[in-house]
Amino acid sequence: MDASEKKRQVAQASLEFIEPGTLLGVGTGSTVNCLIELLPTIRGRIEKVVSSSKASSELLEAQGFEVITLNEAGAIDLYIDGADESTKRLHLIKGGGGALTREKILAGAARRFICIVDDSKLVGMLGTFPLPIEVLPMAQEFVSQRLVKLRGQPVWREGFVTDNGNHILDVHDLQITNPIEFESRLNQIPGIVCVGLFANRPADILLIASDTGVREMRT
Ligand code: A5P
Repeated sequence: MDASEKKRQVAQASLEFIEPGTLLGVGTGSTVNCLIELLPTIRGRIEKVVSSSKASSELLEAQGFEVITLNEAGAIDLYIDGADESTKRLHLIKGGGGALTREKILAGAARRFICIVDDSKLVGMLGTFPLPIEVLPMAQEFVSQRLVKLRGQPVWREGFVTDNGNHILDVHDLQITNPIEFESRLNQIPGIVCVGLFANRPADILLIASDTGVREMRT
């Protein structure tokens, strides 16, 4: 089975978790795009939608959903999003699409966070996928120097501006043995807006698509 079929299958499997009256948070990326395509099939179960990016908002609106802000929503029943890497403990690297800050906010605001991935995303240790970090543009060099001291190799995602008007540093060569501690440590560096490490708030449920079907892992 190819990767796009796995993404479609795992997106389909996540629909079962959407109960009638759900205020749904929607993430960003190619796996979530499959979910957005399928959402009209369960339109009646969705009360309102909050989105983690301009790109997802546009797709949701094209499907006829009204997208409200988190401020209007107050809280989210269920947040569904993809990831770039996940461990068995459901610690994640996210932000390959650059939407990590809004994604982390929606995950934090959600009563339940379901992460949908294909089996290529499941890893023993986080860090092979370069860790995306959103930074204030004026602090980019300062933050890069701090990251080098932590033995990372930050690479500016040149030409990319986030929905919040900031820059992304993709940090290579990390071996993240303690994701909770490392996330907290990075959060202390001034100028960092958000770290694409989701460990202090991991997913609650991981749905993984493989050749043999979709399986589920929980924290
Ligand atoms: C977006 O910023 C990311 O966090 C995505 O959730 C992540 O990159 C997964 O994307 P794909 O579903 O396209 O692999």
